[in-house]
Amino acid sequence: PRPILLTRHGESLDNVRGRIGGDSSLSEVGLLYSRKLASFIEKRLASERTASIWTSTLQRSILTAHPIIGFPKIQWRALDEINAGICDGMTYDEVKKNKPEEYESRGKDKLRYRYPRGESYLDVIQRLEPVIIELERQRAPVVVISHQAVLRALYAYFADRPLEELPNIEIPLHTVIEIQMGVAGVQEKRYKLMD
Ligand code: G3H
Repeated sequence: PRPILLTRHGESLDNVRGRIGGDSSLSEVGLLYSRKLASFIEKRLASERTASIWTSTLQRSILTAHPIIGFPKIQWRALDEINAGICDGMTYDEVKKNKPEEYESRGKDKLRYRYPRGESYLDVIQRLEPVIIELERQRAPVVVISHQAVLRALYAYFADRPLEELPNIEIPLHTVIEIQMGVAGVQEKRYKLMD
């Protein structure tokens, strides 16, 4: 059975600063992950004749894929991080201080809460539908290099996790989650490439 390999982008400059959203590039640590990921993929997919690398259209995702050679890369806007609207670029502390009503509503219902001029988790799930259809249609392995909120939705779909749990699933940085779909159901392996 063909694997689907899910990973977040390497640590970004906004991750270091604790900022939501944005389109920053990678930190030194994030760049190191991009190289470790490339050698991991090279070994893991060595026996595969074809495979493809799917990224979002954001810098941190594209840069994480950059050192991987030998496989076609496809950019999907649908793999971009949840749009935080008016909170884009803020830290969670700034949201709490400057937009307390927003902070509170999100805390009450993270799944359905929609950032003003942005998206909710339900919106993200909906825009991922064509990506999921295409992933299920693939015969060759796919490496998906995306973002925490988006990967929560993809992971919940494949691992059959309840919708209400989805916005709080932990998708750690610098870890590859391998999903195998076979007759016996879905199997999962995790590879932590860095601390
Ligand atoms: O920047 C966005 C985060 O990856 C999503 O985190 O939905 O838990 O705030 P959150």
